[in-house]
Amino acid sequence: MDKKIVLTGDRPTGKLHLGHYVGSLRNRVKMQESNEYEMYIMIADMQAFTDNANKPEKRKKSVIHVAIDNLSVGINPEKATLFVQSSIPELSELTMYYMNLVTVNRAKRNPTIKSEIKERGFSDSVPVGFLAYPISQAADITAFNATHVPVGDDQLPILEQDREIVKSFYKIYGKTLTMPEPILSKNKNSRRLPGLDGKNKMSKSLNNCIYLSDDTKTVTAKVMSMYTDPNHLKIEDKGDTKNNPVFLYLDALCKDRKKFDELKKGYEQGGVGDVIIKNYLIDVVEETLIPIREKRKYYESHLDEVYTILKNGSVKAERIAHETLKRVRKAVGVEYYN
Ligand code: TRP
Repeated sequence: MDKKIVLTGDRPTGKLHLGHYVGSLRNRVKMQESNEYEMYIMIADMQAFTDNANKPEKRKKSVIHVAIDNLSVGINPEKATLFVQSSIPELSELTMYYMNLVTVNRAKRNPTIKSEIKERGFSDSVPVGFLAYPISQAADITAFNATHVPVGDDQLPILEQDREIVKSFYKIYGKTLTMPEPILSKNKNSRRLPGLDGKNKMSKSLNNCIYLSDDTKTVTAKVMSMYTDPNHLKIEDKGDTKNNPVFLYLDALCKDRKKFDELKKGYEQGGVGDVIIKNYLIDVVEETLIPIREKRKYYESHLDEVYTILKNGSVKAERIAHETLKRVRKAVGVEYYN
C-alpha cells in the first residue's frame, strides 16, 4: 500500500509549548514511527511574515527554536523531512497561481481568519498576505502531494478553503493536484490545552504557557500558580474537574489512568486539596519534559547539525516541489518554449 503523505508545520513566531505538544507534536512523532506515513514538517517562516513582517529578528531566532523543539520531542530527520518554507521558492509561484482562484470575499469570510484578525488586533489594517495565508497553505500542501493534513478544530476552515482551491484548479486546468484530507484528532482532550490561567487556549500572546524548554524550577512555579476551581476553598469542598486546567492537563498527559481517576473522584467528592493535584501535575509534566530536555541539550550544543538537517531537508523538499511546479506550469499554460 502506498504511504499516506502528510504535510504539517509551525509558524516560527516563538518557542513551542505544551499545548503544541499535546495538540500536534506528539501525534507527529507517533505518525513518524508508524511507517504508514511519509512525513513533511515545514517551518513556515514565509507564513510568519503574514503577522510578523515587522519582526525579522524574532522570526529568524524562532526558526532554530522551532527546529530544536521538533527534534527534541523525537522528530527524526532520517524518517521525516524537516525543512524551511522560504528555502522552497516554488511555493511562492504556486501561491501566485492559486490567488486567482479565491475571491476577496471568500478570503475574508474564512472563520479562522476572521477570529485571528480580531485576536491580532488588525482591525482595518489587515495585511494582504495575512488574508492570503490560507492560499499559500494550499501551495504548501499541494506542492508535496500531501494526501493528509493533521488539523486542530481551528485549522479546519483553512483546510476547507484549500480543498476548494484544489477543486477550482481541477475545473479550469485539470486534475493535476492531489486533494488533501484532514486528520482530525480523536481524543477531544488532546485537541487543545487551556492556558495556565484557565483561559481557553495556551498561547504565547496570553503569557499562559508551559514551554517545552522550561526547566524544572519554572515548571514548578508555573503549575503552583495555576488557576483551579475558584469555588474550591477548603480541602473538604467539592471541586470541579471539568473546567479545571490542572485536571485537563492531567487528562492529556497522565499515563497512570487509575491514579488519575482516583484523584479526580477524590477532588469531586471533596477531601483532595489543590496542592496535591498540583504536585502530581508537576511530576507528570516533568516526566514528559525530561527526555525532551535531554535531546534539546544535545541539539543546542550542536547547532551546526541542526542547520545541516534543515538544509538537507529543504533540498529534498525542493526536489518534490519542483516536480509539482513543473506539472502545474504545464497545466496552467505557461510553458511557452518547449
Ligand atoms: N498554519 C500553520 C500554523 O499556523 C502552519 C502551516 C503553514 C501549515 N503551512 C501549512 C500547517 C500547511 C499545515 C499544512 O502554525
